[in-house]
Amino acid sequence: MAAPVHSVVVIGCQWGDEGKGKIVDLLSAEADIVARFQGGNNAGHTLVVEGKQTVLHLIPSGALHTKTVCVIGGGVVLDTTALVQEVEQLGVAGFPLGPGRLLVSQDCHLILPYHKAIDQARERRRGKGKIGTTGRGIGPTYEDKAARVGLRVADLLDETHFRERLRVVLEEKNSYLRNILDESVLDFDTVAAELERAAVLIRPRVADTARYLHEALTSGKRVLFEGAQGAMLDVDHGTYPYVTSSNTGIGAVCSGTGVAAKLVRKVIGITKAYTTRVGSGPFPTELSNEIGDRLRNEGGEFGATTGRPRRCGWFDAVVLRKAIRVSGVDVLALTKLDVLTGLDPLLVCTGYRRGADVIDDVPALAEELERVTPIYEEHSGWTQDLGDCKRLSDLPPAARKYIARLEELAGLPVEIVSVGPDRAATISLSPAF
Ligand code: GDP
Ligand code: IMO
Ligand code: MG
Repeated sequence: MAAPVHSVVVIGCQWGDEGKGKIVDLLSAEADIVARFQGGNNAGHTLVVEGKQTVLHLIPSGALHTKTVCVIGGGVVLDTTALVQEVEQLGVAGFPLGPGRLLVSQDCHLILPYHKAIDQARERRRGKGKIGTTGRGIGPTYEDKAARVGLRVADLLDETHFRERLRVVLEEKNSYLRNILDESVLDFDTVAAELERAAVLIRPRVADTARYLHEALTSGKRVLFEGAQGAMLDVDHGTYPYVTSSNTGIGAVCSGTGVAAKLVRKVIGITKAYTTRVGSGPFPTELSNEIGDRLRNEGGEFGATTGRPRRCGWFDAVVLRKAIRVSGVDVLALTKLDVLTGLDPLLVCTGYRRGADVIDDVPALAEELERVTPIYEEHSGWTQDLGDCKRLSDLPPAARKYIARLEELAGLPVEIVSVGPDRAATISLSPAF
C-alpha cells in the first residue's frame, strides 16, 4: 500500500507580510522538508525564537530546525549573492546549511545585476506612478524567464558554459540599459566573477528538487510549502499592475516545485487581524490617520526587506474571501491579534460600495478598486495584553468574538492564533499535519 501523503501549504491571504515566516518556523518542528516555490529575495520572513530575531529572504523558514531540509524550488528567482550571504549569516548564527540541508533547484532563474539595474531604473522613471517594487530585480527576471532568455541555476554548473551565455545576454542588456534607460552599463568580467564566487557555494547544493520532493512525499515524508508575498500581489489574481511578477497562490506550488496537484493536501491561509500593504496600489481599508499610525507602531509595521513603513488599515473580508477561493484555503492562521489591544471599536470591512452598488468582490481594474468605499461593521475591542495567552479561553471575550466573526465571514475555521512575534506566542487549536 502507498504511504499516506503529508503536505501543507502556507500562503499569504493579503498583500504580504502576514506572518508567514513565523507560522512556517512554528510548523517546521513537525516537517521533514520546507520548500519555497515562488518569488525571490523580495520576501522578508521574520522568525523570532526566545527573543532572537532572524529575517530570511530566500532560505525557507525551516532553517532554524536543524533536522529540516530546506528546498528552493524552481519557481523561485535566485539572487546568488544574496543566497550566499544568507547561508553564511545562518552558519555564523549556528544553523549551518550544508549540501544535505539546503537543496537548490536546477531550474531556478538567476537574478543578475542587470535585472536589478533595470528594475530600479524603471521605478525611477515612473516617478509618482511607480509600483514601489523592492528593487531586487524580480520583475525583469520573470520577464526573461517568459521571454526564454533567462540564465538558470543549471547554466551555473559549468563555468565556461555560463560565461558564454552571459556574454551574449549581457550585450543585449547593456544596450537596453544604455540606449533606452540611459543608465550605465555593466562590466562582463565583474558580473562573471561575482557569479562564479557564488557558484562555488551553490553547485554542491543543486538538485532535481522536483523529483526529490515527489519521492519524499510518496514515501510519507512531511513537506511544508512556504509561500512568499500574498494573494493580492499575485500577478494574475492580485491588484494588477500593483503586484509582484509571480503567482503567489496554490497553482504556484505545483508549477514552482514540480510537485503534482494531487500530492497537495492542505492549505493554511495566513491573515493578519488587520491589513497592511507596502508599496503603491489601491488599499480600500487604509487608515491615513492616528489609528493607522498606531497599528504601524504597535505592530512594528516596517518592511522586513526594504525597511519602508507599511500602510495599515482595518481587516478586509472581501480580500480574504477572494484569497480563500483562488487557493482553496482549508483553514486560517490569524496573526497579530495582540496588536489590536486597546483599540475600540474595531472595524471590519464586509463589502464595498461602488457608486450605488454593493459589491462583494475585488474589481479587476486598480482604478476601480481605488474608488470603492468599504462597508464596515463595528466590534468591541479589549484592553488586555494578549502576549501570554496560551489557550483560546485565555483570550478576553471580545477577542474571541472578533475571531468567531472573522471565521464566519471567511467560512473557515481559524486553526492558529498568533499573539506575538515569538514562536512561543501562539495558540494552536489543532495539529497542522
Ligand atoms: P511574512 O513576510 O509574512 O513572513 O511577515 P513579515 O515577517 O514580513 O512581517 C510580519 C511581522 O510581524 C514580523 O515583524 C513578525 O515578527 C511580526 N509578527 C508575526 N506574528 C506576530 C504576532 O502575532 N504579533 C505581533 N505583534 N507580531 C507578529
Ligand atoms: P513577503 O514574502 C510585502 C510588493 C512590493 C511592491 C510589489 C512588487 O515578505 O510577504 P517586487 O519587488 O516583487 O517586484 O515588488 O510587491 N512586495 C511585497 N510586499 N511582502 C512581500 O513579501 C513582498 N514582496 C513584494 O512592495 O509593492
Ligand atoms: Mg515579509
